[in-house]
Amino acid sequence: MTTPPITRDDASGLDRTLRPQTWEEYIGQKKTKENLRILLTAARERGHAAEHILLYGPPGLGKTTLANLVAKTLGTNMRITSGPAIERVGDLAAILTNLSPGDVLFIDEIHRLSKSIEEVLYPAMESGVLDIIIGKGPSARTVQLELPPFTMVAATTRISLLSSPLRSRFSGGTFRLEFYSDDEIATILERSASLLSVETNREILERIAKRCRATPRTANYLLKRCRDLAQLEGGTLSEEIVEKTFGLLDIDDLGLTAPDRSVLEAIIHKFNGGPVGLNTIAAATGEEPSTIEDVIEPYLIRHGLLERTPRGRVASPSAYEHIQNL
Ligand code: ADE
Repeated sequence: MTTPPITRDDASGLDRTLRPQTWEEYIGQKKTKENLRILLTAARERGHAAEHILLYGPPGLGKTTLANLVAKTLGTNMRITSGPAIERVGDLAAILTNLSPGDVLFIDEIHRLSKSIEEVLYPAMESGVLDIIIGKGPSARTVQLELPPFTMVAATTRISLLSSPLRSRFSGGTFRLEFYSDDEIATILERSASLLSVETNREILERIAKRCRATPRTANYLLKRCRDLAQLEGGTLSEEIVEKTFGLLDIDDLGLTAPDRSVLEAIIHKFNGGPVGLNTIAAATGEEPSTIEDVIEPYLIRHGLLERTPRGRVASPSAYEHIQNL
C-alpha cells in the first residue's frame, strides 16, 4: 500500500479552520455579539480605537474567536499574548511599543498577570502611556513613552481573581460568555462537518451536541473523533459510530467525562454528599483545584448536579441519581 503524502491535517489547524470568520457564522452569545457590534462599529465610524473589552467564562466557549472578530470588525491586526507569557515589565513594554495604531491586543488568561505588570498596564490602558523606570537607586528616573492607540481584549476563566482596579479599566465593557444550547451546538457542528467534509445529518450532530458539555471546542473535538472512527470502519458517520466513540472516550449520556464523575463520586461516597471544600475534593480526586473550579464545576453546576454553598460543594439529588444509574 502506498502512503499518501502528508499534508497539514485540518485537525492541527482546527482552531483556525473551524473558527467562524464572520459575525454571521458566530452562533449564540446573542447579547455579547450585539453589544460588541455596536461598540465596534461606532468606534470605527469615529475613526477611534475601540475601548478595552473583557471576556470571561469557562474555557472553550469562543473568547479567542470573539477577539478575532473584534479585530476584523475594526479592520486592524490582532496581536496575541497571555498573562503567563508576560513575565517582566520589559516583555509588556516590547509588546505595547510594537503595536500599530488601532491594533487589537489580545491577552488570554489575564488573571495570571503579576501585580507589578498590572500596575504598568493601568496607565497604558487609561492614558495610552507607558511609565518605565530606568536605573536604580538615587539615579533612577521615570521615562514616559506615548503608545499608539490600541484596543485591549482580555480573556479570563476566573473573573474573581482580577483586582477591581484592573476590572474597572475595561471601559468598553465586561462580557460573560454563556454555555451553548444543544440547538446552537448542532448548528455549529453542521458548519464544522461541512468544512471537514464529513457526511452526516442533523440528527446525528444533535447526538454529539447533547454530550459536549455545551462547549463548541469540545463539540468539534468529538466530531473529529467520530470522524476518525467512521473512517477506520469504512463508513459514514452513523449513530452507531457516535455511540461507539462516546464509549471509547468514556463519555456518559449527560456528556460527563471520567474527571467529572470522579468529583461527583468523591462528594457522594467519601463526603456523604457534602458540603465539602474545594481543596478536599482536589485531594480526594487527584485533580488540581483550579481544574475543578474552571473546567469541571461550571458544567456540573449548570446541569444542576452540584451546588456551591458558603460551606462547600454539595451534590444534588440528580447527581445521586446519575451516579447510581451508571
Ligand atoms: N466555534 C467556536 N465558537 C463558535 C461559535 N460561537 N459559533 C460558531 N462556531 C464556533
